[in-house]
Amino acid sequence: MFAHRLLVTDICRRFVWQEIFGNDHPVELDLGAGDGGFAIAYAQQHPEINLLAVERLLGRVRKIEKRAARAGLVNLRVLRLEFGYTVRHLLPSSSVSVAHVMFPDQWPKRRHWDRRLVQPAFVRDVAAALWPGGEFRFTTDHADYFETAQAAVAEAAVLERAPEWDWAHDPKTDFQQGFEAEGRTTFQARWVKATETR
Ligand SMILES: C[S@@+](CC[C@H](N)C(=O)[O-])C[C@H]1O[C@@H](n2cnc3c(N)ncnc32)[C@H](O)[C@@H]1O
Repeated sequence: MFAHRLLVTDICRRFVWQEIFGNDHPVELDLGAGDGGFAIAYAQQHPEINLLAVERLLGRVRKIEKRAARAGLVNLRVLRLEFGYTVRHLLPSSSVSVAHVMFPDQWPKRRHWDRRLVQPAFVRDVAAALWPGGEFRFTTDHADYFETAQAAVAEAAVLERAPEWDWAHDPKTDFQQGFEAEGRTTFQARWVKATETR
C-alpha cells in the first residue's frame, strides 16, 4: 500500500538516497507537489532520475501514491512532511540535482509575504542540498511573488541565474493547467549552484 510513500522513522537523520531509491541516479525534488500531475509525468519522462515529491496534505499524498502505482513508477517517492524542514534537516548536503518549486502558496497580501516559501534562508538551504551544477527551478503565476523570489535568491547570494531555456519540455503542473486555462501568465526562472556553499 505504501510502495511509493517515503516513511521517515527518524526525523533527525539525513536521507541516504541509495537506501530510498536503490540506485545512484540523480535526485530531483518537487516541493509542494499538490496532486502530483507534474511529478507523475516528469518521473515517466525521466526514468534516468529519482524524484522525491514532498507534500503535506494527506489527501494529495494519497492521490500521488495512487497515480504512481497506476503508472508503475519505480523512480518516484512521496513524502508527507513540511518542505522547509525537509530541505533544512533531511537532505544530505550537495546531493540533489534539481529542486522544483512550482506554484507555491502565493500569500498575496503584503503583510503575509514573510510566510512565502522562497526566502533567503530557504534559498540557502536549497543551495546547500544541491550538488555543484545543480539547479533551483521556480514557477509561479504571481508577478509579485516572482519579484520577491528573485530578490530572495539575489540576497542569499549562493546561486547564479541560469540562461533562459525552453520550459515547454516540462509537463505542466495541475495548478498550471488550471491557471493557464484562465489565461493567467506563468513566470519561471532557474538558478544554478556554481560552487560549494556548505
Ligand atoms: C498551490 S499548490 C501547488 C501544487 C503543485 N505544485 C502544482 O503546481 O499543481 C501548493 C502545494 O504546496 C503544499 N504545501 C504548502 N505548504 C507546504 C509545506 N509547508 N510543506 C509541504 N507542502 C506544502 C500545499 O499543500 C499544496 O499542495
